[in-house]
Amino acid sequence: MRRVYLDEVKPGDKLAWPVYLSSGEVLFEKGRVLTSEDIDRLHEWRVVEVLIEGYDEIEKELERERMLLEVFKEAHKYTVEYSRNVLERLSRNVEVKREEIGKVVLDTIENLSINKDVLLMISAYFKRKDDYLFVHAVNTMTIALAIGGYLGYTEEELEHVGMGALLHDIGLVHLADGNEERKEHPEVGFKIVKNTLSNVHPVVTNIILQHHERKDGSGFPFGLKEGEILKEAMIVGVAEVFDRLTSPRGEGRRGSSFEAMKFILSNTKDKFDPKVVEALMRVMVIYPLGTLIRLNTGEIGRVAASTPNPFRPKVNIMFDKYGRPLEKIVRIDLSEELAYRLYIAEVLDESAYDLDLSQEITA
Ligand SMILES: [Fe+2]
Ligand SMILES: [Fe+2]
Repeated sequence: MRRVYLDEVKPGDKLAWPVYLSSGEVLFEKGRVLTSEDIDRLHEWRVVEVLIEGYDEIEKELERERMLLEVFKEAHKYTVEYSRNVLERLSRNVEVKREEIGKVVLDTIENLSINKDVLLMISAYFKRKDDYLFVHAVNTMTIALAIGGYLGYTEEELEHVGMGALLHDIGLVHLADGNEERKEHPEVGFKIVKNTLSNVHPVVTNIILQHHERKDGSGFPFGLKEGEILKEAMIVGVAEVFDRLTSPRGEGRRGSSFEAMKFILSNTKDKFDPKVVEALMRVMVIYPLGTLIRLNTGEIGRVAASTPNPFRPKVNIMFDKYGRPLEKIVRIDLSEELAYRLYIAEVLDESAYDLDLSQEITA
């Protein structure tokens, strides 16, 4: 099913959804094959757009994404368990081979190359209150690798970024405390990894040491300033803040991805590297993947995939403008020229809608 502006509707097109008048009455039922008289009536009633049956390409794309989401969800679960095992051993100073960590990183790079949007949506949405540190490690790694990929890093450089991201809070695992404010954790982690991980690259250990340093010197443990902080540590710093702000911890509810993005953007001047933040925006979209939104037309849906324009992503519409749930998701690419009449008018509070992304997608 696809969404078509009235001036593009042709006689013979079949309605995939009823046409409602503003009073809420049905003008034409679903399934009606439109005649040119019908189209004239739609014009008279000032109907702007209708949902028409067909458009296999988008249906296929959605189907593929649904499948990948299932596959990547399982992969995410597995990666968290695998990483828990490695991180726990390492945090007790049990020797771990470099390849054991490299494997997780390489798998994630490969999955990102298959479908970055779906994998990042999982990082942004599939959080757990328990096991916070392990889920946080995996999500931070995924986001950091996507940023590094956008910045054109080589595979070897990406491997360092990914390893550093996966291990960045190993100090907290050792301290058995999820509190990122514990100022000693970067140094604790640095020492553990330096002493216990064989053949570790200095970029990896420096990411662990510097991931809380900020451009204006307000970070810890050393209060380093712009120019003194390793770029890779800035990448992991931004990725981990994004994940942290969107994770449920303790009794707290998760913050929305949009709020996290706003927080990072508003602190970029003082704290973060603007190139890294731009990359985050490009890969996660200004309205991050999965965000529940309302279009200017009143339709409600989710940000589903990135486009070259971070303000105009692809969205999956789930409710029509009267709030009625659609039988099938309608995909709209806001970056396409024709769709410029449409824009994201509002970011909605998920909790008010009783929606569950995982169920929607597997429905
Ligand atoms: Fe940390
Ligand atoms: Fe962290």
